[in-house]
Amino acid sequence: MTARAILPRVDGRRLLERLRALAAITATPGRGVTRLAYSAEDVTARELVARWMREAGLAVAVDPAGNVVGTRAGAEPGLRRLATGSHLDTVAEAGALDGAYGVVAAVEVAAALTAARIRLRHQLAVVGFSNEEGARGTPGMVGSAAIAGHEVDLSIVDDEGWVLADRIAAAGGDPARLADAAWPPLAGFLELHVEQGPVLEEAGVSVGVVTAITARLTLDILIRGRAQHAGTTPMAARRDAAVAAARMVLAVHGLATEGAVRVATAGRVEVRPGVRNVVPGDALVGVDLRDVDDAALARAVDLLRSAAAEVAAGTGTDVDVLVRSRVPAVPTDPALAGCVASAADRLGLSRLALPSGAGHDAQVLAALGPVAMAFVPSIGGVSHAADEATADADLVAGADLLLHAVLDADDLLDGPARPERSAADPVGAALVPPGARSCRNGERGR
Ligand code: HGY
Ligand code: MN
Ligand code: MN
Repeated sequence: MTARAILPRVDGRRLLERLRALAAITATPGRGVTRLAYSAEDVTARELVARWMREAGLAVAVDPAGNVVGTRAGAEPGLRRLATGSHLDTVAEAGALDGAYGVVAAVEVAAALTAARIRLRHQLAVVGFSNEEGARGTPGMVGSAAIAGHEVDLSIVDDEGWVLADRIAAAGGDPARLADAAWPPLAGFLELHVEQGPVLEEAGVSVGVVTAITARLTLDILIRGRAQHAGTTPMAARRDAAVAAARMVLAVHGLATEGAVRVATAGRVEVRPGVRNVVPGDALVGVDLRDVDDAALARAVDLLRSAAAEVAAGTGTDVDVLVRSRVPAVPTDPALAGCVASAADRLGLSRLALPSGAGHDAQVLAALGPVAMAFVPSIGGVSHAADEATADADLVAGADLLLHAVLDADDLLDGPARPERSAADPVGAALVPPGARSCRNGERGR
């Protein structure tokens, strides 16, 4: 039994250096970080993280879905795996932290355990997921779906005309063996992430203890009109796909402003042939809807289809609304979230319980076992943009938090019952129903 006089910490300087090194791997230098799934930049980043994982004492493998996974044996081999990590791919012209922060911090946690010669009870898995963003027009969370053993439609064609299976193969995966990427049930999964919103910064709080992760639904609205001469075609004779697209964009926006869903975004609008003197014949509107209520999202699709029928009639076009991907809302596990809370308390970090407006791989991993997430503040709430940023002190504190949440989870999960959290802790009490086992406040068990 190793008594721990001082609290183990991560190597904060190296964490910050590595985040900068990853951010330099981009297809758009000077315009943020662009590491689209399965791109050359994505593979380069994965190889760099694999090297860091090995330096941290992890046994490393890239699975058939292109996830990079580092493992570290536990003291009790019969226990289920405890995992932590996030994704390495980005949207276009993104910031340096979305995904990457949770991966680099997870590697630092493994390195800190190795440096402190701490052997967890559980095997520890550190993972860099592939294709969480779906930024090429495929569903997101493909890597985590493979790990969760979910069906993945490999025949999907992305925005550049590539079949998903070919993308995965070109990036060193093995689509024919995707099923081999599946993990057995987990003891627990913890994901550290930047908040990507303004709540923590506005509250002046260092840590977010996530209570639930939003449901996400993506759609394509396909519009077929009639390409015609812009100079000779009377307005009344037109079947203008761009006009239909514009009305559908407003219908999407209205879903949120009229309260059907929490947020609604038409993030992609394309008209073809896209030439000034041609009445657009075709258009595509790519849509993203979010809400913690799955039923609200289902109702929103119906509303959008009614709007599509009206727009089609009003513009003489055909308008089809196709659901592309659907990820259900997931509550985090109260006891495991209690480990995040107890770690924050031990480190003297202020904390706040909040839902996640962004989707995360953790909500897919929930199929394998209990999940919890921790957020650090995003400056100005900015994310999915080049100026995404978090204070260095918050980045390092978040990684220390992850280290201690992992230590507490290792104690809690598959372990003897624990005393209930003090009722004096309103957030902790809110997270942990009476009688549930939860992490300790204060002193560690070993
Ligand atoms: O879009 C999201 O919520 C996540 O960043 N993929
Ligand atoms: Mn993202
Ligand atoms: Mn993310």
